Amino acid sequence: MRDAMRTVKVEKADGIAWTFLNRPEKRNAMSPTLHFEMDAVLAELETDPEVRCVVITGAGQAFSAGQDLKEFFRELDGKPAETKRATEAANRWRWDRLYNYDKPTIAMVNGFCVGGAFMQLMACDFAVAAEDATFSLSEINWGIIPGGLVARVMTEALGYRDALDLCLTGRSFDGKEAARLRLVNEAVPPDALRDRTTALARLLMSKDPEAYRATKIAVRRVRSMSFEQAYDYLGAKMEELRQRTGGRAQRDGIAQFVDEKAYKPVQGSFTH
Ligand code: ACO
Repeated sequence: MRDAMRTVKVEKADGIAWTFLNRPEKRNAMSPTLHFEMDAVLAELETDPEVRCVVITGAGQAFSAGQDLKEFFRELDGKPAETKRATEAANRWRWDRLYNYDKPTIAMVNGFCVGGAFMQLMACDFAVAAEDATFSLSEINWGIIPGGLVARVMTEALGYRDALDLCLTGRSFDGKEAARLRLVNEAVPPDALRDRTTALARLLMSKDPEAYRATKIAVRRVRSMSFEQAYDYLGAKMEELRQRTGGRAQRDGIAQFVDEKAYKPVQGSFTH
């Protein structure tokens, strides 16, 4: 499959899969082909034993200029079957897969991040942006609403006033403002972006992978639960983690601290 890919490029190094939306001449606008390829690539990387962290980024000057206005909107117009297939793939990789991904994920925003690209931005566990990246919810500027789940995740990620501001004005803003709004974890000078992302990926890969997976799913699921439901759910999730690892994580984590005095949990992860 890899050889046939036209719109996605993956470079693997030291456990990290650097996954590039790869249509730089179109600012990585997302065509149906790109959605099908990203969907297949993410499924493959999730079970690839060489890969312990996935970074989503863009080739050239853009993270992604959003949906391809020509290939995704105009050329699919009036073709319900093709529209359904492309929309399902688009939503599956940008949200369902990434939001529930078994491995750590980081969005590395290297340039334009527009409209539909906010889906993968917000679905990743972490986001790091170049200070000079350009963000915009441009939908209103060409006459549609922030669809998919974009309007929904904006109201979740931002205060109400900021969500309305960005959705209703379509104004562009830079990486520094994105960090201030907490759309990204941090913004760094462009020439530090790759190193900072690598350091973050290494930190995430140092965690026990089963504990990492269970923690992120737990945090995401409890957001919409009552306290009573969350008590029950987290108790069951803890038991599930114990079952999946045979108690390994807890046993080794405690032994390395209490008996071997090999590490301190406040300062870093046990060795797994
Ligand atoms: N869909 C289709 N083609 C696009 C898109 C897009 N979203 N974004 C860029 N392109 C194409 C341009 O048409 C151009 O093609 P051409 O070389 O055949 O003329 C090429 O990519 C380069 O784009 P330029 O506009 O020339 O590049 P520039 O760096 O000056 O501007 C920018 C980049 C600001 C991203 C601009 O292209 C733009 O505003 N794009 C539209 C972004 C957008 O609104 N996306 C939709 C969001 S809504 C949604 O996703 C649901």
